[in-house]
This record gives sequence, structure tokens and C-alpha cells, in this order.
Amino acid sequence: MHENDVMICRCEEVMLEEIRAWIEKGYSNFDELKRILRVGMGPCQGRGCRDILLRELSRATGKPIGEINPGTIRPPVKPIKLGLCAYGREVDAK
Ligand code: FES
Repeated sequence: MHENDVMICRCEEVMLEEIRAWIEKGYSNFDELKRILRVGMGPCQGRGCRDILLRELSRATGKPIGEINPGTIRPPVKPIKLGLCAYGREVDAK
């Protein structure tokens, strides 16, 4: 197995090879890659792939990871049920 065959975003099934190809085309931050590949838009909202992607951007650009824009993180940070938003508590769906 080649290292490019690694799945980086499991939610959106994005492989490292795709990410590297778009970085080579000039995409240089998380939000740009998110728009083109949907990385970070799955059910985990990037918790599974954001750090890996930022490390790859750091490696490719030579910038320290702290200088790479981590992208926009919108609430809720974690998926929640609508009932929690509406009533402020878990609602039994029965
Ligand atoms: S692993 Fe990328 S959005 Fe979940």
C-alpha cells in the first residue's frame, strides 16, 4: 500500500492522494480544501480529519502548523439533536 492510499477524511471518503493533488494546484488552507473536497463537512465536522489535513498543509507549504489557518469552525462543534436546541434538553423521540 502506498502512503497516498490513506483515507484522511473518513466521513467524506477523501484520500491523501486527492488532498496532495489539490495542494499542488495551489489550494493552501483548510477552507479551500473543504470547499473543493468537502473535507471537514461530514458528521464529525472535521474532528477526525482537520488535524491530519493541517499537518499535511504544514508539510507541503513548509509553514509551522500554528501559522496555517485552521478553517472556520461553526457551532455546534459536535452534532446534537434538534430537540436539544429547541427545548434545551434531550427529548424522548417516542
Ligand atoms: S473525518 Fe472528515 S469530516 Fe469526519
